[in-house]
Amino acid sequence: MMQHIFRRGTKEEKPVLVLLHGTGGTEHDLLSLAELVDPEASVLSVRGNVLENGMPRFFKRLAEGIFDEEDLVFRTKELKDFLAQAAIDYQFDPSNIVAIGYSNGANIAASLLFHYDNAVKGAILHHPMVPIRNVPMPDLTGIHVWIGAGANDPICPQEESVELKNLLEEAGASVGIHWEHAGHQLTKLEVNAAKAWYQQNFS
Ligand code: MLT
Repeated sequence: MMQHIFRRGTKEEKPVLVLLHGTGGTEHDLLSLAELVDPEASVLSVRGNVLENGMPRFFKRLAEGIFDEEDLVFRTKELKDFLAQAAIDYQFDPSNIVAIGYSNGANIAASLLFHYDNAVKGAILHHPMVPIRNVPMPDLTGIHVWIGAGANDPICPQEESVELKNLLEEAGASVGIHWEHAGHQLTKLEVNAAKAWYQQNFS
């Protein structure tokens, strides 16, 4: 079970936007972002089940930027199972999910892509990292991914954003990358760029 908010959209055929917050966030954080990206879509906003000094996260880390890979794999499956159950409970199509994540939330969304070919059909990743290395990737053909990266992001160096793009592309995904200069922050400019990409791919 994961704490969450579900809001049914006005257009059933729209993707279900799965919102995944950053470290220390909650399921309330990204609701306004979903409203901006697609006000007609259903929204499932999830709170991470791990606590780090009281701050919710989607998986454990050993240090800043160093992930507990065993927990990452376990939590990625937990989220995948939660989405499958939510699709039954709220009666939406589990093959019609677009994830929107920021920072730690973007990392668990990227991990869904690294482990499953059918978890999401698209993902907007704001300031993601490479979640795990040296795992066999699923076939991501037909999956659309957008990366919002920071040219001077202290948490994720430029090369790592490019590495993530390359790994996803090698697995078959279509990947767009957008650069901002505001460090690790999520800016209005970046959200607007994500919205433009979403409208091109999913509207
Ligand atoms: C992570 O731990 O997922 C990344 O370091 C980003 C963050 O601080 O949440």
